[in-house]
Amino acid sequence: MGGTEILHGVDLTLDKGEVLAVLGPSGSGKTTLLRCLNFLEKADSGQVIMLGRTINMPSAGRREIAEYRRHTAFVFQNFNLFANKTALENVTEGLIVARGLAKPEAEQIGMKALGKVGLADKADSYPSRLSGGQQQRVAIARAIAAGPDVIMLDEPTSALDPELIGEVLHVIKQLADDGMTMIIVTHEIGFARSVADRILFMDGGNVVVQTGTKDFFEKNDNKRVREFLGSLSERIGLNEHDTQNQKNDSASHSNSASHGKRGRVRKKGGRK
Ligand SMILES: Nc1ncnc2c1ncn2[C@@H]1O[C@H](COP(=O)(O)OP(=O)(O)OP(=O)(O)O)[C@@H](O)[C@H]1O
Ligand SMILES: [Mg+2]
Repeated sequence: MGGTEILHGVDLTLDKGEVLAVLGPSGSGKTTLLRCLNFLEKADSGQVIMLGRTINMPSAGRREIAEYRRHTAFVFQNFNLFANKTALENVTEGLIVARGLAKPEAEQIGMKALGKVGLADKADSYPSRLSGGQQQRVAIARAIAAGPDVIMLDEPTSALDPELIGEVLHVIKQLADDGMTMIIVTHEIGFARSVADRILFMDGGNVVVQTGTKDFFEKNDNKRVREFLGSLSERIGLNEHDTQNQKNDSASHSNSASHGKRGRVRKKGGRK
């Protein structure tokens, strides 16, 4: 990209039903990794093997990418909803336009997906009438409706006000419990710990550690990982307000993944 090498030989495997959390400091390449995996960014080299089909990333053609994308869904940090479409229309748009489904069929699938994220009653609402948490849940419903084999989420809660984070994490946790295969880039360390099967830790465009969640948090014999986790717990410890919000979240989402040991973390740097 622009002559600068951002990712240096990243290798990852994802089994069906597995949840992989991608962690790492700001600028470490997490978003770039997801964007490459979804062909939103063109990798200079490498391949992706999905359901036994190999795609050469730099030379992938439009049709190949479109076919690949039938199996994947992407959830963006800033929801990316159409402002002039209702929640249901946002969810059904891709089904009707890209998949060629008839409107009634698309709406049936769309309503089911909205039901899954607890927003069936908001089907006719426009995004401007929805909270950030609700908008992100619509975006997740859109991802579910596409019937993907894997959902990739890039910091799905980082644009949200603290009190809205829990509801979105709760929905993602439910998806994980339903067996959805997911790659989640997140700064919600406690959430990653509770939902992920494996952790991929990146730094400076490299995968520093890729291991089971339990080992990552309990063994973590890597210096970089220790520093990263240390800096996070320091920030959590120092911020009374955040701690209070976590308590509130836990109270209002008793089934939520955000329960208990969740540590919400604000990033140091600004958005790029
Ligand atoms: N389009 C681009 N062109 C050139 N450099 C880029 C581009 N996008 C990102 N970068 C650089 O690539 C590196 C990795 O960025 P990336 O956005 O993937 O990091 P990140 O881990 O997602 O960070 P954050 O936690 O802040 O979201 C950074 O140094 C960034 O400045
Ligand atoms: Mg990012």
